[in-house]
Amino acid sequence: MLDWLVPMDGPEIIARAQSLARHSDSPQHYTRTYLTPAHQAAARQIEGWMREAGMAVRTDAVGNVIGRYEGAAPGARALMIGSHFDSVRNGGKYDGNLGILLGIGCVDALHRRKERLPVAIEVAAFADEEGARFQTSFLSSRALVHGFDAKLAERRDAQGVTLGDAMRAVGLDPARAGEARLKPDRLAGYMEVHIEQGPVLLKEGHALGVVTVIAAGARHAMKVIGEAGHAGTVPMAMRHDALAAAAEMVLAIERRACAPGLVGTVGLLEVKDGTGNVIPGEVRFTVDIRSGDGDLLAAAQREVFADLDEIAARRGVKLEGNRTHDVRAVPCPAAMQDQVAAAIERVTGARPARRLPSGAGHDAMVMADITEVGMMFVRCGAGGVSHNPAETVSAEDAVLALAALEDFARHFAPPARPR
Ligand code: HGY
Ligand code: MN
Ligand code: MN
Repeated sequence: MLDWLVPMDGPEIIARAQSLARHSDSPQHYTRTYLTPAHQAAARQIEGWMREAGMAVRTDAVGNVIGRYEGAAPGARALMIGSHFDSVRNGGKYDGNLGILLGIGCVDALHRRKERLPVAIEVAAFADEEGARFQTSFLSSRALVHGFDAKLAERRDAQGVTLGDAMRAVGLDPARAGEARLKPDRLAGYMEVHIEQGPVLLKEGHALGVVTVIAAGARHAMKVIGEAGHAGTVPMAMRHDALAAAAEMVLAIERRACAPGLVGTVGLLEVKDGTGNVIPGEVRFTVDIRSGDGDLLAAAQREVFADLDEIAARRGVKLEGNRTHDVRAVPCPAAMQDQVAAAIERVTGARPARRLPSGAGHDAMVMADITEVGMMFVRCGAGGVSHNPAETVSAEDAVLALAALEDFARHFAPPARPR
């Protein structure tokens, strides 16, 4: 029904997502982390699709792949359409990738018609949003907006490889990573199409939705230092068991995060030199707390860390921590929301388009520091699950999203940026 609008049809979009997911760090499942061989193979495949769609393509100083399709006037400011091509471990094939594929599909449709818009279109494939390898979430969109923090080059992955060495291994120079920074006046706006990663659109029967606000989030890397000992000889009352302390801390975080308006997760917990007959001496774990309300998030963090300190003191273990991620809630400006909603309504005929918040973080929240941002959600199948290999999108919804994105781009009027 809508295929005549956009030559790339739904099955082609899904097939490309499947094909892109074959570039994985693991033969068992889909995992693609920053600058691995699989990550670089995916970058080259994205680059090829961008060229086929008529874009001039560059790889920037932190490994982002950016395709440019000129507007009617050469050198016009660009509407950037972006998302990320790295993943979490054992993740889903559409998180990030779908937004890149739809951006390429949108330019492909314009290119086939030899059509030029008042703005240029730049499709940005961000290289490191999840930060799964070096705990560097949003590294690559931050580099466009704020430059590159040289200290990041010393971060090490689980194999002890530094980020700087990983960059050099693929021909990037960490000393020049700051060159990825964009001139803000080159952008007319930023648009990200992303799977909802939740059940709302599925439950209510909407294919597409408009994002109103992207939730604030904070992440911390924690270390509990107790005392390793013999599992058979140390009386229970004399132990400083780092894992038992961490376990109590995990439940304390969960308890606090069950308050309305909050979510909290401990996604990683590792016992150093873990052995069955040794009392754990050192444990590392991560804390991820989020809320649509920044004040609620700040208060929750204060309470959580007071709880963790109390547990550490009572159990005679040391607690160390550092914040690895801290993003404020980012509203999508009404002018952008309205343009996304109008595109969805024109393409689907459903009025009014469903508006909803995003509990997940996105590169859009970083780009919001230099330009007006809009986000469109695509219905998630399989109960709305994401960060899970069961994550899925239908071909019908993918082609509707492509048609709505193209419609948005055609009608796009750059909103004035508040001074
Ligand atoms: O964690 C998030 O919200 C996103 O997947 N980076
Ligand atoms: Mn994700
Ligand atoms: Mn994502």
